[in-house]
Amino acid sequence: MRNKIAFYGAGNVGATAAHWLAGMELGDCVLFDIFGEVAAGKALDLFEAGPPMGIDTQVTGGSDPGVIEGADVIVVTAGVPRRKDPETGKFPSRDELVKINQDVMTAVSENIKKYAPESIIVVVTNPLDAMCHVVKQVTGFPRERIIGQAGALDTARYKTFIAMELGLSVEDIHGIVLGGHGDTMVPLPRHTSVAGIPVTELMSQQKLEAIIARTAKGGGEIVGLLGYSGYYAPAAGVAIMVESILKDKKRVIPCAVYTEGEYGYHDLFLGLPVVLGRKGIEQIIAMDLNDKERAMLDHSADAVRSVVEVLGY
Ligand code: 2OP
Repeated sequence: MRNKIAFYGAGNVGATAAHWLAGMELGDCVLFDIFGEVAAGKALDLFEAGPPMGIDTQVTGGSDPGVIEGADVIVVTAGVPRRKDPETGKFPSRDELVKINQDVMTAVSENIKKYAPESIIVVVTNPLDAMCHVVKQVTGFPRERIIGQAGALDTARYKTFIAMELGLSVEDIHGIVLGGHGDTMVPLPRHTSVAGIPVTELMSQQKLEAIIARTAKGGGEIVGLLGYSGYYAPAAGVAIMVESILKDKKRVIPCAVYTEGEYGYHDLFLGLPVVLGRKGIEQIIAMDLNDKERAMLDHSADAVRSVVEVLGY
């Protein structure tokens, strides 16, 4: 039987993730969006790219949430980005945005529970770690099947900046970024290498610190250039996660996961190294962090907790 990958939200990130994944032929793709015929239109356009590109993936879409029925994996990008209100000219406050997207995610989660109760959910909507809490609260799915996409993107940015600085292939950069998806994320230089050579031997501490700071503000850098959020790299982060799940690859990818004592945290979604396979999160890998790294992770966890508190659960 063919896999079914649903994209709940067919905006830039959802549609681009569908684009990457359709090309990988991991399963048939179905796009859903509440806005008019955008999902049907993007799906048909992408399906029509199959013949010239030699891609044998069926792509469909619509504005009825029933289209996600029976999906194996659901990529959730639905939500409102932080942008100026055209009438008032003001940005919503962080808490207002949390509340708006909490309502969106509640509706999304109810539909997923109804139409795809066995699915694995990959959450992308921001504020990411808090939105994972909403999905968990409303669906009641086990934590193995609720996975936040953040570390895959943050790590991709970190590796890109290192490759740019050293003038080396991105393929040989290995590293990991933990923590919440925000300014407090925790890139780990002590665990970063270039083809196994510690990055600290190849780059000054000062340069590395600059890369870490740039990584933490990576999302904002793209917004500054485009005027809206990035989507190629966020969607690529989704694609490697879905690939590892559907192919049961058991790749180690940092993802937002609901902690039940791991790293000393409880009842909090936080970016940690996890093993992704056909069951979703199959393992959370315990890393031996030093005092500085631990303090940074604690700080990041506090930042996530302060957003989660706004949800009022
Ligand atoms: C990013 O970091 C907005 O989460 C998105 O680009």
